[in-house]
Amino acid sequence: MVIRTASLNTANNVDVSKLNSAINTYLGEQIVNLIHMQSCQSTNMECMRLAQHGAVVIADQQIAGRGRRGRQWHSPANENIYCSIGIKKKIPANLLGLISLQTGVSIAQVLEELSIPDISLKWPNDILFKGKKLGGILIEAQALSPDEFFLVIGFGLNINLNHKDEESIDQPAASLSMTGKGPFPRATLLVSLIGRILQAVNGFSQHSVAALIDRFERFDILRGEEVKVVTSKQSMHATYLGIEPNGHVRVQTAQGEQSFAAAEISLRQVVHVTD
Ligand code: BTN
Repeated sequence: MVIRTASLNTANNVDVSKLNSAINTYLGEQIVNLIHMQSCQSTNMECMRLAQHGAVVIADQQIAGRGRRGRQWHSPANENIYCSIGIKKKIPANLLGLISLQTGVSIAQVLEELSIPDISLKWPNDILFKGKKLGGILIEAQALSPDEFFLVIGFGLNINLNHKDEESIDQPAASLSMTGKGPFPRATLLVSLIGRILQAVNGFSQHSVAALIDRFERFDILRGEEVKVVTSKQSMHATYLGIEPNGHVRVQTAQGEQSFAAAEISLRQVVHVTD
C-alpha cells in the first residue's frame, strides 16, 4: 500500500500523531496517512474526495453519515467510531462483495479478542451484539481499471449510545458500553481495527475466499434461520443457506434455491414472538 505520514492536530481525546504512529507500528513497514476531522459530512465522502492518495479518515462526528441502501448513519459527536480507509486494490470485480465480509470478520475478531461476548455478523455488513446493531460497514468502489479499484472501506462502531441516540436509530441498537467490558478508548480501538482491516484487505486474494467464508460462518447470526428477503419488487420468506464464493447470499425459497448480491436485497431475520 501507498503512503505518507501527515502530522495533524489533536482534538477530543484522539491524539492523531500518536494514533498515526501506533497504527504504523502495528503495520510494520506500512505508513498510513491518517486524517482526523472533528466534524465532516461523511468520512466515506472525504476519503473518496482524496481518492487515490490512500488515506484513513476518522471523525468525531458526521453530519450526514451514510448507511447502506441510502440510509442515514446516526453519528453523534465524540461517542463512537466513524472511520474510512481508502486503498487501491487489485481484485476481480466479481469478488468486490467479499470486502465487506472481510471487514466484518476483522472487526468481529478484534472485538472477540477484547473478550466481548455475543458478537455476530449479519450479511452483508452488520456487526451485532446480542443480535442488536453495534456497527455497520459501507464499502464504496471506484474502478481504476477492470481489475483494480480505489476502495473506501467505511465502518461505524457504537461505543456510547444514550437513550436519545437509541431512539434516533430505526432498529434495535447496541453500543460497547452495554457489553459490561471496557473501558473502550477510541484511539486504542482504532489502532487495532484499522491495523487488522488493512492487513486483511491488503492480503485478500481469490485464494483467501474459502478461509474467509469459513471465518464469516463462525460469526454468522443467520445460519439455518428463517429470513425475509426484500427486493425492489417483492418480499418473500426463505431459509438462509449461507454465503457463496462471490459473497452473494444463498437462500431456499418456495421457488427453489436463489442467490442475491448485496445491492439487490435487504435480508431480515424472522423473529417468532411467543407468549
Ligand atoms: C450500514 O450499516 O448501513 C453501514 C453504516 C456505515 C457507517 C460508516 S460511519 C463511517 C463511514 N462514513 C459513512 O458515511 N458511513 C460509514
